[in-house]
Amino acid sequence: MRILGIETSCDETGVAIYDTDQGLLSHALFSQVDMHAHFGGVVPELASRDHIRRIVPLIKEVSDEANIHFNAIDGIAYTEGPGLVGALLVGISVAHGLSWSLQIPAVGIHHMEGHLLACMLEEEKPKFPFIALLVSGGHTQLVKVEAVGRYTIMGESLDDAVGEAFDKTAKLLGLGYPGGPVIEKIAREGHAGIYNFPRPMINRPGLDFSFSGLKTFAKNTWEESRQDQQTKADIARAFSEAVFDTLFIKCQRAIQQTGLRHLVVAGGVSANRQLRARFRDLEADVFYPRLEFCTDNGAMIAYAGAIRLVAGEQKGLSFGARPRWSLDELQPPAHLPENS
Ligand code: KG4
Ligand code: ZN
Repeated sequence: MRILGIETSCDETGVAIYDTDQGLLSHALFSQVDMHAHFGGVVPELASRDHIRRIVPLIKEVSDEANIHFNAIDGIAYTEGPGLVGALLVGISVAHGLSWSLQIPAVGIHHMEGHLLACMLEEEKPKFPFIALLVSGGHTQLVKVEAVGRYTIMGESLDDAVGEAFDKTAKLLGLGYPGGPVIEKIAREGHAGIYNFPRPMINRPGLDFSFSGLKTFAKNTWEESRQDQQTKADIARAFSEAVFDTLFIKCQRAIQQTGLRHLVVAGGVSANRQLRARFRDLEADVFYPRLEFCTDNGAMIAYAGAIRLVAGEQKGLSFGARPRWSLDELQPPAHLPENS
């Protein structure tokens, strides 16, 4: 079965074609980062308008690259939520327009399920059941994954998501948007041990997180400092180390609690090489998507859609976006949602 995957939940238009026999045939992405950087963050209305401009040329690009005519597509997967409603609706409308005109099934995918399954596109795959640490711009969650669609949230951030904490800290240091990659870069120039950031909530039992205090700590540290380039680098390093130490401690706790030895780390922040270096000491086998599939992309949606479409799941003629949608509301593919 050949699946066209469409991702438009935020500021990246991602499209891909996945073949259940041959694997990923092609993928393409347009990032709106340069446009939003000007405003210091994502402007939802501009995001929606840009998805409209990009999506059809990108679909043509992936079909040309895979050397496939529209008629050879057997199903369509799109991000149904969570995300920005206007942005989601662009992908959803295009997906259902194509589905209707080509008379092929379409299925709506949870964005975080896409992230969680992205590592299945790699040679080295985790085995169910495993633990997933999801670290993106909107989510920080530790999830027990028993099977596709069988997710239990074991812990999550009570305030800012990790990516959000990176973005806000970068902004207050005057480093631009998005914050994660630029903090990673500048942290390499930082000296160890200059600042000592707290490791939030590690002394409390459980697997929840809190990152908004780290951002405030960075703000206060910056305001009381010499405010030069080296200080920015030292803060970036101390901030990153505190975040990754905290994530490390909670992952280790989840591994001990569950006895599971496979851990998937996914979502934008999993692209961070300092995180990956820190996680080498975990008492588990750690699996990551390739760097380009850590951040938003169409391939992860095509893959998750393939699993659900092969199992016979599909959306009916009535559809919509789910801007807020918890991962633990999902069902395994064989259990069709009531309104489908
Ligand atoms: O998964 P993603 O592309 O979109 C969401 O689903 O939110 O994640 C984007 C987030 C942003 O907050 C960005 O700053 C962060 O991931 N990010 C990183 C890195 N690359 C992206 N954070 C830390 N280090 C990175 N290298
Ligand atoms: Zn994402």
